[in-house]
Amino acid sequence: MTRKGIILAGGAGTRLHPLTLATSKQLLPVYDKPMVYYPISVLMRAGIRDILIITTPEDQAAFKRLLGDGARIGVNFSYIVQDRPEGLAQAYLLGEDFLDGAPSAMALGDNLFFGDGLGAKLASAGQRTDGATVFGAWVKEPHRYGVVDFDADQRAVRIVEKPSEPPSNYAVTGLYFYDGDAPELARQVRPSARGELEITDLNNLYLERGALNVELLGQSFVWLDAGTHESLLEASEFVRVLEERHNRVIGCIEEIAYDQGWIDAEALRQIAGEYAKSPYGQYLAAAADRPPRGTPPAGGAAAAPSGPRLVAGR
Ligand code: TTP
Repeated sequence: MTRKGIILAGGAGTRLHPLTLATSKQLLPVYDKPMVYYPISVLMRAGIRDILIITTPEDQAAFKRLLGDGARIGVNFSYIVQDRPEGLAQAYLLGEDFLDGAPSAMALGDNLFFGDGLGAKLASAGQRTDGATVFGAWVKEPHRYGVVDFDADQRAVRIVEKPSEPPSNYAVTGLYFYDGDAPELARQVRPSARGELEITDLNNLYLERGALNVELLGQSFVWLDAGTHESLLEASEFVRVLEERHNRVIGCIEEIAYDQGWIDAEALRQIAGEYAKSPYGQYLAAAADRPPRGTPPAGGAAAAPSGPRLVAGR
């Protein structure tokens, strides 16, 4: 079965108050585009075209205004609301009908990934038909995340949610690949002390089955969750610097659709025309004048025809 995608873009965004009182965190700008473009671009690079967007009831209309049904970029966006932020694993209860037994990848709406070789990692996670794959990244403050506990052979033995004494510095990032069993396993997850269905508990259920693959992201990877004022600004600065240096737009969902062969130059030019006054639109217009970069298997890295290559997260 074809893998489907979930973008989890609800939540309360309390750490960003008052920024998030009237809008969703995931619609805030990260430099030149809304935050949610970045995780969508990761799913698209993984070759996923059927994507469920989970939002709060209040914000759904704004997401639909931004993204529509996806047809103009050759994907299919569906929408469902999460009434209350009752945890990341709840996405798999809400998304069960949408998934209809299919394997999936879920990306958190405020997570950004950059780095060489992301395409290859997405491709190999996408090809694994049984079990789950999560990605571990080295962080300074592991107590804020789900943390991987390794045995002496560097095998993951459990994931611990927000531990006061972290067993390692490897946090589980907000990108999860699951087989078709995820909704059934999510039903076994009980609310934690903070009242949430924890994704860490779902991951541990896979781990107990011997079916959790923990891929570590190397030092060349940058993983950001833009959930605080500092990290939001840091993400914007990071994107601006990378885009200027490499002359490539990161997280550009329209360009990815074109490079994947899901839309043609005419369709890309049409979108570019609508944004003609912004540098983003001008970038799309230029992209429509070159051939598509090809469709690497499952969204793997495509070679740029010239100049430096910015591979990951776009
Ligand atoms: P968090 O950043 O943990 O939570 P939050 O967005 O509510 O923010 P805050 O801690 O500042 O109150 O959530 C991570 C991502 O998951 C984020 O993109 C929001 C999303 N999310 C949901 O969609 N539903 C949920 O129930 C939770 C907990 C998070």
